[in-house]
Amino acid sequence: MAHTIVIFGASGDLTSRKLIPALYLMFKKDRLPEGSRIVGVSRSHFEHEEWRDSLCATTEKFAGKSFDAETWNRFSENVFYQAGDIKESDDFKKLGQFLSSIETEAHTGRVYYLSTMPQLYEEAIKQLGAAGLVDDSEGFRRVIIEKPFGTDLKTAQKLNRSIHTVFREDQIYRIDHYLGKETVQNIFALRFANSIFEPIWNRNFVDNIQITVAEEVVIGRRAGYYDTSGILRDMFQNHILQLMMITAMEPPARYDAALVRDEKVKVLHSVRRMSGGDFAMNTVRGQYKGYLQEEGVPEHSQTETFAALKLYCDNWRWKGVPFYLRSGKGMSCRTTQIVIQFKNVPHILFGEKTRSPLGNRLVIQVQPAEGIQLHFETKVPDSEMKTRTSTLDFSFRQAPGGTSMPDAYQRLLLDSLTGDASLFARSDEVELAWGIIDPIIEAWKSPAAPDLFPYEPGLWGPAEAGEWMHRQKREWFDVCPVLS
Ligand code: BG6
Repeated sequence: MAHTIVIFGASGDLTSRKLIPALYLMFKKDRLPEGSRIVGVSRSHFEHEEWRDSLCATTEKFAGKSFDAETWNRFSENVFYQAGDIKESDDFKKLGQFLSSIETEAHTGRVYYLSTMPQLYEEAIKQLGAAGLVDDSEGFRRVIIEKPFGTDLKTAQKLNRSIHTVFREDQIYRIDHYLGKETVQNIFALRFANSIFEPIWNRNFVDNIQITVAEEVVIGRRAGYYDTSGILRDMFQNHILQLMMITAMEPPARYDAALVRDEKVKVLHSVRRMSGGDFAMNTVRGQYKGYLQEEGVPEHSQTETFAALKLYCDNWRWKGVPFYLRSGKGMSCRTTQIVIQFKNVPHILFGEKTRSPLGNRLVIQVQPAEGIQLHFETKVPDSEMKTRTSTLDFSFRQAPGGTSMPDAYQRLLLDSLTGDASLFARSDEVELAWGIIDPIIEAWKSPAAPDLFPYEPGLWGPAEAGEWMHRQKREWFDVCPVLS
């Protein structure tokens, strides 16, 4: 049994930086079925050998110590290139012929990976259908689509409708690379493979939940994309809402694509939509100083590079518990973390001699310091009853096997080949997520938009985001993780 992976957009950055290194590492670990073929498609003309050579250098760079020439040679024998223009139906016919010429009876399925400009998704899918390349009577045919899935609810619905004219939903794998991160999958393990957390994972014990995705980097040369997108489309509609869904969902009956995604979707259904005064009260927007000077950014751009939102899930588990979601470019450090802030003790026993305890906190470090910390109060030795916060600290890197945390794309490519869609976004999920984010984007564009606060790069976003929390008698967990 072997498969074929066809990558459209083969000359792009994602292919050389992520997809080929991930496929190479899967091959090296014996996870890519023997004889599987990889075919790159894009408009430029290359000989197979030329394309292999260009990929060798980038794979060596990104695979680091895991690269060795002997394995690469065996792997690259099955890497091919076929020039083709997504707008040319003849090129799809030629692609079909080429695929038939390199596939054998052992090849049981194909995955088409759309790593092209999003404007070409619909055309590529239409052409695949028209060329008869989606017929799955002799083996599976699946399509992987990269984000963005539309730029708002309407365009996402249109894209879904058009994909569904060619592919069934069970053939569509929408990538959100955050779901491929080991530490994100570990949230399932933490919540559903332990009995001690689930009983307190609710409104009776949790005061608030904070999800932060902070990036130290600024937008660099991505102004063309970023200025029309802004942080809500770039990070919230997808990655951050995914983290929220997994943190807030009910346990599914089985770990199965349909059931897992049903539970995630229920979370989105329960998120209270913002309206009226909510936008001013429950959102903070910011732009780092220097953004307007980035190459390609319009002079008076009002695009946000920082956002903080307060969302509520109106359901039995979470009613009244705020979910603070925050992300920014040009922040103090790179960190993605989920903080479960538990309620304070109901009655403080140790009087004024102690500072007031902060309440227990569970911190899930998604990256780069992958791990989990539990913060709790302990007695200061040789004191009267004074307490201080201590930490139980689990680090993936120090645990057995933790030094080889695979890149998200390995997991996701593997799952697309084995047909497990649990870690991919379903059409209803994508549309519901837009339904939450769209009204905020609209409100932020309106004349009554809340102020866009400037902030110095290298801090935790605008000072107003901290003041906003203080007014709610809460604090952000502004801690840069220590890399061990
Ligand atoms: C991408 C966004 O989806 O995710 C980028 O377009 C962002 O703006 C990136 O930098 C963050 O991904 P990661 O895996 O580096 O946290």
